[in-house]
Amino acid sequence: MAENSVVIDLDGVSSTTLSKLKKAGLLTYESIAVTPSKEIEEMTGMGSDTALKVSQLARKKVDHGFVPATLVLEQRKLMLRCNTGSPDLNRILGGGIETGAITELIGEFGSGKTQICFTLSVLAQLPVEQGGFGGKVCVIDTEGTFLPERIKQIAEERGLDTIEILNGVLVARAFNSEHQTILIKNLPQVVQENKVKLVIVDSMIGHFRGEYIGRGTLSDRQQKIGSCLASLLRVAEAFNLAVVLTNQVQAKPDTNYGDPNKPTGGHVMAHACTHRVYLRKGKENTRIAQVIDSPYLPEEKARFAVEAAGVIGCEQ
Ligand code: GTP
Ligand code: MG
Repeated sequence: MAENSVVIDLDGVSSTTLSKLKKAGLLTYESIAVTPSKEIEEMTGMGSDTALKVSQLARKKVDHGFVPATLVLEQRKLMLRCNTGSPDLNRILGGGIETGAITELIGEFGSGKTQICFTLSVLAQLPVEQGGFGGKVCVIDTEGTFLPERIKQIAEERGLDTIEILNGVLVARAFNSEHQTILIKNLPQVVQENKVKLVIVDSMIGHFRGEYIGRGTLSDRQQKIGSCLASLLRVAEAFNLAVVLTNQVQAKPDTNYGDPNKPTGGHVMAHACTHRVYLRKGKENTRIAQVIDSPYLPEEKARFAVEAAGVIGCEQ
């Protein structure tokens, strides 16, 4: 969570190696330290020994090993929470979408996942005093549902400078799971260069589900999803930014009672995401959100509405 350093100077590392790191977008101690040496090797083409050495040296610069819990508590005070647009939704999230964590939005079609992402893309750019993160937003759009017009409308309805807000959202369309993976692995560079404080992947599992069909491919698929999620969590922690993922539900054929839908992505997804929020349609334009899995948030419910201004409180 330290301030990101801009010049890297690793003792005993040749200038050729340093320029390879630079070319691969590994520009800071933080981005090198959070990238596994195997990935540094693949990204830069350097040998495994050099990659390991570089990785260890960078980690020494940013990692202090075991630290007292009081220090961890101090560090957690740097955590920021972003307003979602709905006071009730903020409440069940402990104040809003938090940095240093992955928040997963789960729900069937039309449940409001993408609308929350659009609203956050606007609100996260507001200064911290106004409930934002005061930074840019990076969106990985896997379904082609990103709509700049909607971002513009939400910003306009909220009296914000629409051009400034649109310029603060960096969008990449991921065409398949491999492309999505590359975009995720390259995040440290993008985040670094653009002072990104919120990363959105809408949706996380869609491509993987579509491409890996049949039981035989399941473990390969899960391993690849797991690797992407691990990268996302490292970025969230290293840069103190928030990651928001969307996920659809699939019908459980063996359900006799309760909700017949479960989130896709299996255990890998369930374990990697810090907070899971389940969304359901309510009456008219209202939606119901419930925290279903979180290390410290109670499983509470909230109601919000989707309007021209994006997500708003129900009472408005
Ligand atoms: P999938 O991506 O299909 O899984 O669904 P999702 O959960 O992402 O749904 P999304 O967030 O796109 O929600 C779509 C719903 O939001 C629509 O059915 C509308 O009810 C509502 N909505 C979208 N745009 C507007 C708008 O401009 N005004 C209002 N009032 N509602 C909107
Ligand atoms: Mg959507």
